[in-house]
Amino acid sequence: MKTKITIGLAAATLTLAMASCGGANTDAPPGAKTPPPGAAATEAETKAPDNMITAADITLGDIDQTMASAGKGIYELKCQACHSVGTNRVVGPGWKGITERRKPEWIMNMMLNVDVMLDQDPEAQKMLEECLVRMPNQSLSKDDGRHVLEFMRTL
Ligand code: HEC
Repeated sequence: MKTKITIGLAAATLTLAMASCGGANTDAPPGAKTPPPGAAATEAETKAPDNMITAADITLGDIDQTMASAGKGIYELKCQACHSVGTNRVVGPGWKGITERRKPEWIMNMMLNVDVMLDQDPEAQKMLEECLVRMPNQSLSKDDGRHVLEFMRTL
């Protein structure tokens, strides 16, 4: 009896995990600019002095096709191995609709400061638990990241 229950739970957890990693998660991310009080916040101050992107750093207008196609180039070179532009997960979640479920500054921080995000942001940590692979830092410049964000807006 006990074994059965355990297996059932594990299966349920796995199903949940797969759904969320595939991008079905619609929770609005808290973003990293207001870290919770306590140890995590202190760590954020030591590890990420002024590098984190905040909403004030990003201006979104009409989609800029030049930026978007530069972003597409970066995607094909550095991201495509792990991310689809659909909803399916490869290693990481698919990007379709990502700009509707995540804030732009959160996305930028996943691109530029992924280690800080995986160490401290609850939404990023949830994804890591589900995907089981730690996204490596892709060493993008801020402009690169902004171009990829523009490309994401076209998906
Ligand atoms: C080696 C595989 C790998 C590569 C290459 C990679 N990623 Fe990721 N990415 C992941 C994984 C896995 C996650 C989920 C978080 C985790 O487990 O670390 C993720 C998550 C993300 C997220 C959050 C997705 C969401 O649905 O919220 C963004 C944004 C992102 N990656 C951007 C990029 C960009 C931009 C590039 C290329 C410059 C890139 N990634 C390259 C593996 C990768």
